[in-house]
Amino acid sequence: MDIAKAVSNLMTNGGNAEDYQGWDLVKLPGIFKIAIPTISGTGAESTRTCVMTNPANGLKLGMNSDFTVYDQIILDPELTNTLPRNQYFYTGMDAYIHCMESMNGSYRNAIGDAYSEQTIRLCRDVFLGDDMMSAENRAKLMVASYLGGCAIATSYVGVVHPFSAGLSVVLGLHHCIANCIVMRAMEPFYPEGYREFHNMAERQGAALPEGICHNLTDEQYDRLYEATVIHQKPLINALGENYKDILTRAKVKEIFCKM
Ligand SMILES: [Fe+2]
Repeated sequence: MDIAKAVSNLMTNGGNAEDYQGWDLVKLPGIFKIAIPTISGTGAESTRTCVMTNPANGLKLGMNSDFTVYDQIILDPELTNTLPRNQYFYTGMDAYIHCMESMNGSYRNAIGDAYSEQTIRLCRDVFLGDDMMSAENRAKLMVASYLGGCAIATSYVGVVHPFSAGLSVVLGLHHCIANCIVMRAMEPFYPEGYREFHNMAERQGAALPEGICHNLTDEQYDRLYEATVIHQKPLINALGENYKDILTRAKVKEIFCKM
């Protein structure tokens, strides 16, 4: 879905995708585009961004623009019926984590909070219930994904996503499993979210990889640090302007080692 958004914008604006990584850099509407999600959670169907990683500079950032939004979306929960359970969990938790981060940040606003609260409520129904993949819960998660995307369009994520981006850029992990791995180390930042997340993972029997950042090289830890602290907006949202005083090089390495 993100690639389709980027291609749509590039077909009318020209240039390279990296030219538009940032906020409101796209000048013209892209070509007409319809999203049909086949997995729920990232909110890519509703957000005004399309996340891309630039391997040249390690920047993981999307084309944040009104023109990135889909013209139409078709939500059909039948399409998530045959997903592998772990993938369904990891991706679904992206919606929960977006809203948990947003609700704990300093950029809160009434509309973002309303979307976030409803998204978290739906995620609790799905992941604290018996079977997260029942027909009813697949429909609820599809709506949670959509609303979670709307929530994050008016606010910012927090600590989880920058660390997750580090794992994606340096170790090549996919976004949603990377978020779940990062949650292993998030107790000091989000104690309630940490507890609830692990409760959900246990209840649904989701496998969470462990020890992913043990025994890396110094160069890899340095790259992880750089690829994490580059994300100013969410880190300021979560920790304030002086976030680098909290997330020192040593502290960031310690956090990655807890994963
Ligand atoms: Fe995300």
